[in-house]
Amino acid sequence: MTEPTVENWRRADEFLSDTLVGHDPALDAALAAQRAAGLPDIEVAPVSGKLLNLIARISGARRVLEIGTLGGYSTIWLARAVGEGGTVTTIEAESGNAAIARASIDAAGIGDRVAIRIGRAADVLPTLEGSEPFDLVFIDADKESNTIYLDWAARLGRSGAVVILDNIGREGEIVREDTTDPRVIGTRDALRMLGEDSRFDATALQTVGIKGWDGIAIAVLT
Ligand code: DHB
Ligand code: MG
Repeated sequence: MTEPTVENWRRADEFLSDTLVGHDPALDAALAAQRAAGLPDIEVAPVSGKLLNLIARISGARRVLEIGTLGGYSTIWLARAVGEGGTVTTIEAESGNAAIARASIDAAGIGDRVAIRIGRAADVLPTLEGSEPFDLVFIDADKESNTIYLDWAARLGRSGAVVILDNIGREGEIVREDTTDPRVIGTRDALRMLGEDSRFDATALQTVGIKGWDGIAIAVLT
């Protein structure tokens, strides 16, 4: 029998990617640009990028907020989902990353839908208060601040908005009581918040694939 090894998860994920997601010049170019610039290899996997796109379309999201742009790979998936007249506001702490993302998003032909806000998300998010509420919030930034970002997602999203939190599995580390890794602690606190805070109705799924063992949480704002 085939063993559930990391190598086999990777190969199965590649099959799913090749079969269901395929290749796309703009997304391939965005990844090539961020690799060439030495950005970390931590963008969402292709199957997850497409999942974000599908969830945005299924929920009819027209106004999307992304926390953590990196090189714009997930931003392109989301910007394609909102359609003509839709918008993605994406927040990036590193101006160098934002410049790479800007170029890739513009080259993908959906630049007019995407506003990149440069700065620490904890500083940028309060400036979005008072704008039209968001339909979908994707949180994929520094994990230490996950509960702060969830709080802002609840404040800035409309009732019924979708909130997606990346990297909730972290190779199973979330159940290690003795962990001192602030990213694990921030993620575990966020999961507890999703369970306890009545503004959210949530679940989470573990994933295995080209990015190893991880997962996403999905919530609707009550
Ligand atoms: C890390 C962050 C991510 O957003 C990701 O998808 C994978 C890893 C990290 O900080 O380790
Ligand atoms: Mg991530």
